[in-house]
This record gives sequence, C-alpha cells and structure tokens, in this order.
Amino acid sequence: MPVVEARNITKTYTIADREIRVLDNVSLSVAAGEFLVVEGSSGSGKTTLLSLLSGLDKPSAGRVLLQEKDITDTSEDDLAPVRNQIIGFVFQSFHLVPSLTALENVMFPAEIKGDPRAHDMAADLLKRVGMQKRSTNYPHQLSGGEMQRVAMCRAVINNPKIIFADEPTGNLDSENGKAVLELLLEFKKERQTTLVLVTHSTEIAKIADRMIVLKDGRIV
Ligand SMILES: Nc1ncnc2c1ncn2[C@@H]1O[C@H](COP(=O)(O)OP(=O)(O)OP(=O)(O)O)[C@@H](O)[C@H]1O
Ligand SMILES: [Mg+2]
Repeated sequence: MPVVEARNITKTYTIADREIRVLDNVSLSVAAGEFLVVEGSSGSGKTTLLSLLSGLDKPSAGRVLLQEKDITDTSEDDLAPVRNQIIGFVFQSFHLVPSLTALENVMFPAEIKGDPRAHDMAADLLKRVGMQKRSTNYPHQLSGGEMQRVAMCRAVINNPKIIFADEPTGNLDSENGKAVLELLLEFKKERQTTLVLVTHSTEIAKIADRMIVLKDGRIV
C-alpha cells in the first residue's frame, strides 16, 4: 500500500511576470515501510517535493494522496492534526520554536496530542542523539548540528508513519550523523516507519531501498 503518492504534480511560481516551473509533472509513489532517498543538485526541487508530499504546500496542478486519501484540497485546519499524527518532518532550516528549550521543542508535538509521556520520551530521544546536556538550551544557544538533532527528535516523537527529512545529517560530523541515521533506521526496523530523505550522502543512499534523482523539477 502506498503511504504517500504524487500524481502528475506541478509547482510553479510567478516572479515579476515570469513563470518558474519548480516541479514539472512529477509522479511518485512511496510504499509503506520503504526507505527512499531523494537526490539532485541545489534548486532541483527536492525541498519543494517534500513540502508537497507532506501537505505543507499545495501543488499548482496534480494530486497528492496520503494513506490513499486525496489531501490536495484539504484545508490547513483539517490537515494539521493529520500531519501531527502521521508525519514527522525535519526541515532544512530546522524551524524550532525560539521561545522553547530543546526539550520543550521535542515534547511539543506529543503535548499537542495530550500524551502524558511527552517529557520522558523527549528526554530519552535527546539522550539517544547525544543531546542530554543541551536539553535546557534555547535554539539560539545551540549549534547548527545540535538544532538538527533536536529537529530530528521532534520529528519522531509521535511515532509517525512517515518521516520526511531534508538533509538530516547535512550539518553533522560523522559520529553525530551516524547517531541520527541510526535513530531513523531503528524506527524503520522496529515500527516499519517509511523514510523519505533528501541527502547527498552516498553512504545513506547505499542503504536505502530506492533513490530518485531530481533535475530541473523532473525525476530523471
Ligand atoms: N517561494 C518561492 N518562490 C519562488 N521560487 C521558489 C520558491 N521556493 C522555491 N523556489 C525555487 O524553486 C526551486 C527549487 O527549490 P527547492 O528549495 O525545492 O530546491 P532544492 O532542491 O531543495 O535545493 P537545495 O539543495 O539548495 O536545498 C529553486 O530554484 C528556488 O529558487
Ligand atoms: Mg532544499
């Protein structure tokens, strides 16, 4: 069963009367439990594709299905709780809440759900990526790689069906990159979590089930 599916999606932006086609008629189906790597040069549309597949943004044309349900026209109000429940997203720029500590950022999606274990689960996740000593730091008191690890913990705390991660090891040295990757692989192995990762790492691509390469908004 596909957990997420794009059918002929196109994304265009108009800047100064000029139309830019960022994604051009892309179709893609990600099976439940699959580990998919998305590759492509800067500007090829990787982040855009992830935003559309997760319903964070809408395509200009085409359809997006999440767990076989068409979400293309679903309003943000209706989609937000679904996303919180089944999707974990690691943004390229982290999107941490500046007024919350590392621990509070990780707890946040679980607290929204009313999960009483939010605190303990968040502390455990931070520990697993070597961040226990930074849990009371605010985002501006964290390094790029530390923010990246906090964002990863936040993405997995609700035990999502699918994790979208945009260069989740991009800012990390090999040891911390490995810790983050191990966390992801553990979710895949133990909970059959579907993984969609943007990465330039050939090491990660090697262990993925499948890799797609984007070029000028198309899968090549
Ligand atoms: N809001 C926007 N308005 C106009 N153009 C945009 C917008 N967002 C993205 N683009 C353009 O869309 C193209 C694809 O952007 P995207 O962020 O998907 O690339 P990417 O493959 O993730 O690149 P990178 O590897 O640098 O992160 C780029 O050329 C970018 O300039
Ligand atoms: Mg990007």
